[in-house]
Amino acid sequence: MGRIALVTGGSRGIGAAISVALKAAGYTVAANYAGNDEAAKAFTAETGIPTYKWSVADYEACKAGVAKVEADLGPVEVLVNNAGITRDAMFHRMTPEQWNEVISTNLNGVFNMTHQVWSGMRDRKFGRVVNISSVNGQKGQAGQANYSAAKAGDIGITRALAQEGARAGITVNAICPGYIGTDMVRAIDEKVLNERIIPQIPVGRLGEPKEIARCVVFLASDDAGFITGSTISANGGQFFG
Ligand code: CAA
Repeated sequence: MGRIALVTGGSRGIGAAISVALKAAGYTVAANYAGNDEAAKAFTAETGIPTYKWSVADYEACKAGVAKVEADLGPVEVLVNNAGITRDAMFHRMTPEQWNEVISTNLNGVFNMTHQVWSGMRDRKFGRVVNISSVNGQKGQAGQANYSAAKAGDIGITRALAQEGARAGITVNAICPGYIGTDMVRAIDEKVLNERIIPQIPVGRLGEPKEIARCVVFLASDDAGFITGSTISANGGQFFG
């Protein structure tokens, strides 16, 4: 059995690709998800990766969920904080609910999850935390004040925890994907996507989930032990952050 890896939002989109790539690299993988039971069931049937349902926005649910994963599989050695949502709206129309939902999942979720595994990683003197931020956390995006703020926050917590974890053998890194061909991106109005967004991507296409998963596998590996607090930008040249 390889190391135990837990991927939040791990049954769909970029998270599913990360779960599959970690399994292929020899990890024992658990995929968390929050809502889509059918997709999770199909994912487990297809990949053999077990799925666990809770919301990363809920601290107590994270505590119980991680305890269940650890009881089933063993201590979590690799945590990939991938779960994320969008509630896009121009700021003058953004509601407090849209703001709070995105901050709760995309930023508080990283605290809620990492807090459950941090002490164990410190005790065992090994850990890998990979936070999936976004190009829009680096550059900001109109229509995404909530998402940009949360994803920028994910880079901040990455850098703080990298310093705290270094002596304990824990690395903490962020990946900033650009626009990747997932349901989240395909939900953007087609005209906005084709006329405003894709023209800003020098390689001229959306990224593939696998192209992010490969970065995670590298950062989780022993080979990446000297890399901590870093941000890998994988965005087709859209922004050099
Ligand atoms: N910069 C400045 N102003 C902009 C703008 C921009 N990029 N985009 C739109 N506006 C302005 C428009 O010109 C318009 O101005 P007026 O009212 O003066 O005419 C105003 O904002 C409203 O524009 P829309 O008619 O498009 O507004 P809408 O309410 O229909 O849609 C929106 C707003 C939902 C935010 C839409 O523009 C949108 O979906 N934008 C894309 C946002 C985006 O990139 N989301 C990424 C989702 S994927 C993801 O998040 C993954 C990842 O990590 C990359």
